[in-house]
Amino acid sequence: MDDSYRVNICGVEWRNPVTTAAGTFAVAESGKYFDPAELGAVTTKGVSAEPWAGNPTPRIAETPSGMLNAVGLENPGVDAYIAGDLRVLKDRGATVISNVAGHSEDEYVYVCRRLDATDTDMLELNVSCPNVREGGMAFGTDADTLARLVGKVRAVTDKPLIVKLSPNVTDITKLAAAAERAGADALSLINTLLGMRIDTRTGKPILANITGGLSGPAIRPVAVRMVYEVARSVSVPVVGMGGIMTGEDALEFLLAGASAVAVGTAALIDPAAPVRVARELGELISNPQVAAAIDAARVRTA
Ligand SMILES: Cc1cc2nc3c(=O)[nH]c(=O)nc-3n(C[C@H](O)[C@H](O)[C@H](O)COP(=O)(O)O)c2cc1C
Repeated sequence: MDDSYRVNICGVEWRNPVTTAAGTFAVAESGKYFDPAELGAVTTKGVSAEPWAGNPTPRIAETPSGMLNAVGLENPGVDAYIAGDLRVLKDRGATVISNVAGHSEDEYVYVCRRLDATDTDMLELNVSCPNVREGGMAFGTDADTLARLVGKVRAVTDKPLIVKLSPNVTDITKLAAAAERAGADALSLINTLLGMRIDTRTGKPILANITGGLSGPAIRPVAVRMVYEVARSVSVPVVGMGGIMTGEDALEFLLAGASAVAVGTAALIDPAAPVRVARELGELISNPQVAAAIDAARVRTA
């Protein structure tokens, strides 16, 4: 893997500007397809204080150029995560972003405090999951609620803190500003867009949860627009995601002002997609004109 395009995201060196998007990377399987240390960072699935069962099935529905999911943040709890996936990834030399979920402010604070005592490289607060009844998106759609949560988490950790924003709002720059003011070191966006499908034969929703989060290429233009708006309105780095399938898609986000990108749904189709995207992006950036355009985008949005 070409190391010529390293980036520094809030003091953490990434060997390239590509990470996995939370919830789309299986640690146990990953070694079969690529070495997680080849990526700029690996972002793990949302972890909560206690094991979380997730939603009933069906949890996935296909859509034109994308998918709906209502997995509902199923995870084994923070203790199992620390002893399991985090250990495996750190032992393999990966830079790890631990994605944090919670039902309440206290739960987010508890999980972040536990992770602060580990060797995770960064934390990412998922305040934007549309598939859980309590917590999740509730924290990410009201600026005051978000600022209070980020402030409380900021008080218990010195780890670089990324706040992952919800696209399910009218003006995402207001939420971005609230998170930055409350102490976020970086912002990531976008999480999934709230959607729904109905089976026309039965007249019933396809997902047991009724609604789910839309991801994949269908959401990319929305994601690029939101990254562009946020990158121009804050001074912290932005990690862009939403429908990235190729290096060229990733480049679009860098030109919109993102400092790094995450690959999600693409990895559910091709598990090696994150490293492929990193390679393709590296090739594109080796062209001096492309590198200059990315630098110009940073200056424009700074
Ligand atoms: C199956 C699935 C599970 C996800 N789980 C999480 C999660 O645990 N935490 C989180 O912040 N985002 C989660 N996401 C959202 C993704 O990280 C990403 O923000 C979104 O899917 C858009 O990127 P994409 O179009 O490349 O998938 C999940 C997405 C999918 C498809």
